[in-house]
Amino acid sequence: MKLRIKLPGLAVMAALLVLSCARCQKMNNSDAATARKVVERGFSNPLAIPAILNGTNADFSAQPGTASLGSGVTVNALGYGNAPILGPTIRINQGEQFNLAFTNNLAEPTNVHWHGLEVPASQDGYPTDVTIPGGTFQYGFPVKNRPGTYWYHPHPDMATASQAYRGLAGFFLVSSTEEEALGLPTGEYDVPLVVQDKRLEGGLNYNPDIDDLSIGMFGESVLVNGTVGPVLEVATRTYRLRLLNGSNARIYNFALSTGAKFQLIGTDGGLLNAPLELSAILLAPGERADVLVNFNGLAVGTDLYLQSNAFAGTPSQGTQSFKILKFKITRQESDNFTPPVSLMPVELLSASQAVATRKFNIGHTMEHGGMSGMVMHPLDGKTFDPNRRDEVVKAGTVEIWEFDNTNGAETHPMHLHAGQFQVLDRSGGRAVVQPWEKGWKDTVLAFPGEKVRIIVRFPDLKGKFVFHCHNLEHEDAGMMLNYEIQ
Ligand code: C2O
Ligand code: CU
Ligand code: CU
Repeated sequence: MKLRIKLPGLAVMAALLVLSCARCQKMNNSDAATARKVVERGFSNPLAIPAILNGTNADFSAQPGTASLGSGVTVNALGYGNAPILGPTIRINQGEQFNLAFTNNLAEPTNVHWHGLEVPASQDGYPTDVTIPGGTFQYGFPVKNRPGTYWYHPHPDMATASQAYRGLAGFFLVSSTEEEALGLPTGEYDVPLVVQDKRLEGGLNYNPDIDDLSIGMFGESVLVNGTVGPVLEVATRTYRLRLLNGSNARIYNFALSTGAKFQLIGTDGGLLNAPLELSAILLAPGERADVLVNFNGLAVGTDLYLQSNAFAGTPSQGTQSFKILKFKITRQESDNFTPPVSLMPVELLSASQAVATRKFNIGHTMEHGGMSGMVMHPLDGKTFDPNRRDEVVKAGTVEIWEFDNTNGAETHPMHLHAGQFQVLDRSGGRAVVQPWEKGWKDTVLAFPGEKVRIIVRFPDLKGKFVFHCHNLEHEDAGMMLNYEIQ
């Protein structure tokens, strides 16, 4: 795998084109690899809730630990702070300064990327900006983002998948006085839920095989906040659930087992201008949905589930529906809460503001190098090279970026660093912008056959950032490019 970094992109592409093997043929025909099936577990383990940390003056490390996931499953994992897996939920207000004295207590280089946050290039966890084992780094930046659900995870070149999979991830929640004035559920009624699939047989190890490197690493166990078979006791009132797909590759089509509708109040880049009533939300790795779920009217003793419904459009996953988290109604409580009619203004960008359009072919089909099990995932014909500058944009300008998966065979959730965008349109496949893709976004999913256009206004953050596929196996296998804001 280290080979990628030593070869210039063109040489790798040339190698890809000339080499072939039986596996390539397998991957090029329609019965390609499929995602490991989910196995549901008892739903009897109390859902873990990560500790809350004030972000104005934080101090933590990344370190190995022994995590008890529930049902007697204990694994070696990685965590932030004192957590044996995952990390604290950082809470901070828009406009405040975030400070973190970070120590790397892992046996390998790491860094922290603030997914969705508008931070200077030096603070963004660029793939080669790493802290060595035993080293420290002082992160610090003003929080510019709108109130909403962001997250943090490692981003070292070719090791993001491995480190995130073994447990490194946490929530970064931004609030403001305007948000508080909306009277949304808070405290124990505001529940962050990071959903991740893992392979637990033999411990939490990251040993992807060639199919995993091709379609992504899928596990049979779906954990929420690091808990297997989780249950959350709830009252008969409204909860704010912050859904984060923190999986390496699995897509979830979130719904309630009762089929009841819920209100979508926020997407990747924070609160929407108004709540949207939905009965399912499809989230790819990296995407978030902030929802209000009302358990009012359900009898004490009722069980219902957050589940993933089957969905169409991808050859490797979506055929199975499975339960994720059990809600157990344990008490009567009334909150006199009705969702606000309007939330927070969202300035809509329009195509006429764009000064440029850039097109990226993400629909590669030839991806296996044939050399020692190496799998490559190019982005627009290139694989990541930290020494290259692929795109140059101007701060403050608006551009349209097109991710074209028309000829692709895989799903690719495309993610831009340095800020938020809006989804302009989609052609092919699902053909329209989905309701849960409204507002500000930092990650957008393109199914095979789809072309998605986003519109972005580049922030005033001069420097080099990356954009990439958030299928973490794809990212680590090259599906990431640089762009510089000037
Ligand atoms: Cu969530 Cu570049 O990543
Ligand atoms: Cu690929
Ligand atoms: Cu991808």
